[in-house]
Amino acid sequence: MSICSIWLLTLFSIIHANGILPTQASNQVYKSLQSLSYGSSTQPYRTAYHFQPPKNWINGPLRYKGLYHLFYQYNPEDLVWKTDLVWAHSVSKDLVNWNILDHALFPSQPSDINGCWSGSATLLSGGKPVFLYTGVDLFNQQVQNLAYPKNLSDPLLKEWVKSPNNPIIFPTSDNKINSSLFRDPTTAWLGKDGHWRMIIGSARITEGLAILYRSKDFINWAKAKHPLYSAQGTGMWECPDFYPVLKDGAIGVDTSVNGNHVRHVLKVSLDDKKHDYYLIGTYDTIKDKFVPDKVFEDKESFLRYDYGKYYASKTFFDDGKNRRVLLGWVNESSTIADDIKKGWSGIHTIPRAIWLHKSGKQLVQWPVVEIEKLRSNPVKWPTKVLKGGELLQVNGVTAAQADVEISFEVHKFGEAEVLDHWVDPQILCSRKGSSVRSGLGPFGLLVLASKGLQEYTSVFFRIFKYQHKNLVLLCSDQSRSSLDSDIDKTTYGTFVDVDPLHEMLSLRSLIDHSIVESFGGEGKTCITTRVYPTLAINDKAQLHAFNNGTVDVMITKLSAWSMKKAQINED
Ligand SMILES: *[C@@H]1O[C@H](CO)[C@@H](O)[C@H](O)[C@H]1NC(C)=O
Ligand SMILES: *[C@@H]1O[C@H](CO)[C@@H](O)[C@H](O)[C@H]1NC(C)=O
Ligand SMILES: *[C@@H]1O[C@H](CO)[C@@H](O)[C@H](O)[C@H]1NC(C)=O
Ligand SMILES: *[C@@H]1O[C@H](CO)[C@@H](O)[C@H](O)[C@H]1NC(C)=O
Repeated sequence: MSICSIWLLTLFSIIHANGILPTQASNQVYKSLQSLSYGSSTQPYRTAYHFQPPKNWINGPLRYKGLYHLFYQYNPEDLVWKTDLVWAHSVSKDLVNWNILDHALFPSQPSDINGCWSGSATLLSGGKPVFLYTGVDLFNQQVQNLAYPKNLSDPLLKEWVKSPNNPIIFPTSDNKINSSLFRDPTTAWLGKDGHWRMIIGSARITEGLAILYRSKDFINWAKAKHPLYSAQGTGMWECPDFYPVLKDGAIGVDTSVNGNHVRHVLKVSLDDKKHDYYLIGTYDTIKDKFVPDKVFEDKESFLRYDYGKYYASKTFFDDGKNRRVLLGWVNESSTIADDIKKGWSGIHTIPRAIWLHKSGKQLVQWPVVEIEKLRSNPVKWPTKVLKGGELLQVNGVTAAQADVEISFEVHKFGEAEVLDHWVDPQILCSRKGSSVRSGLGPFGLLVLASKGLQEYTSVFFRIFKYQHKNLVLLCSDQSRSSLDSDIDKTTYGTFVDVDPLHEMLSLRSLIDHSIVESFGGEGKTCITTRVYPTLAINDKAQLHAFNNGTVDVMITKLSAWSMKKAQINED
């Protein structure tokens, strides 16, 4: 069984008076966490600016009084997830640097004695935060619990109190809910009738369900007759997320907002596929149903947040910066034996602002601007031609810890390879990795490359002619990423909805030792991968722009930065 990784990162707007964070976990100190070595020589895969707990599995993230709070599932006892899951807790002023606090929730009552699983935070009137979370009870049933902060004056929200009414929602023979498939309550939203609503992920045989609940007081919840939405053949829905996005503009809105100026997004983490899928549609408040523009059955409408490794994400509305922020979790691609040797496993992606593209057809994601504070030593290239077969090294950046943006202009569309029938883009990327040359492409970046190119990860575009249109493929090819053969080196890829006749093909990659997060088409398409080079580590890593197509392409922009180390959960 899998668990949901990311909890809601709620956002609270009030600015903490002095903005000071504790430099150390307050009371209890977890000794084992302190003895870890962060030395890069012993830990070449430990990241420098991505969120990781000091050790062990992480599975998830939360903000109040101007501080961002990250609550994540964490197993203090073991690397391999079993029970005893707690809600670990870190806080940040900027979504970049994080300080660790004591655990916020740990198993303590019959309704969560076998683990505190995922849940979400909601701000009640007056900005009071509450948690709804799944507990695994004495009988190993999944039930829903409520918790409150003990002291609302404490911006760190260090202590949490569980409701005496727990569990507040549980499976019964009447409600026909399978007690093994009933988890991950969302952030609640307030209807015009003054009643709260939220959904819980579930399944009935192979039909995925977003079970809808309503409540007036946040304690007594009644199941609605119909789910908010359901879809046959999709299996168990984990970590559902439901929120409005503006029809026009990148600004975020509170989860309770509805009206003609917004669309709604339903995201579900499909347990069977281990990917986060989303649908865009309308929230019909009269029927209390979500009506998507396209359904899951339609292959073209299988929209994902990320086409690489990415799961159990969650969004929250950041009313400080008026944006919706998305956080996701990425597990390791190495073996469990390697994870045990490393002493840690799992990582969060850089928080991303998320909004609706002006076409209304898809979402756009972009790393939060705060991450740019870590940029140093900029390298910029003038416009230059990248000849067919050419490889140009980007000198002057710490290639193992970098942020790079590149744009290409392409001509001679007549040279594009013809695709005579539709092929799953990920399969197309694995058949046509960076060593397979065509007319237009592959061209892009070689990241975490070793000096003699024994190792590299290639992130690239390839253009096809398909039904008289130019189809742009973005791939991340890990097949040559490491000499170590025990690693999952699956190639990822998807089509990017851009028109290369009229638009530049842009790519940004955030490289951090063992993770590469790539954003194609100005954030229309994201691909996250984990890689573990053996040669291309630390200062041995190189960065290149390459064109393995036969036709020249123009680099219209290349900006690269070395990234400074963020302060993350250090003692
Ligand atoms: C609540 O938190 C505030 C701010 O940290 C602190 O000054 C106060 O002593 C706390 N109250 C209690 C009862 O712990
Ligand atoms: C409930 O779900 C579990 C896990 O998928 C499954 O093994 C079990 O058969 C289901 N029970 C019923 C009554 O459908
Ligand atoms: C975790 O990693 C393994 C190995 O790469 C992969 O098969 C699995 O799907 C991943 N799980 C998630 C939730 O991403
Ligand atoms: C470019 O293509 C050639 C010929 O297939 C291949 O040997 C080389 O490895 C490719 N370069 C990259 C970066 O994949």
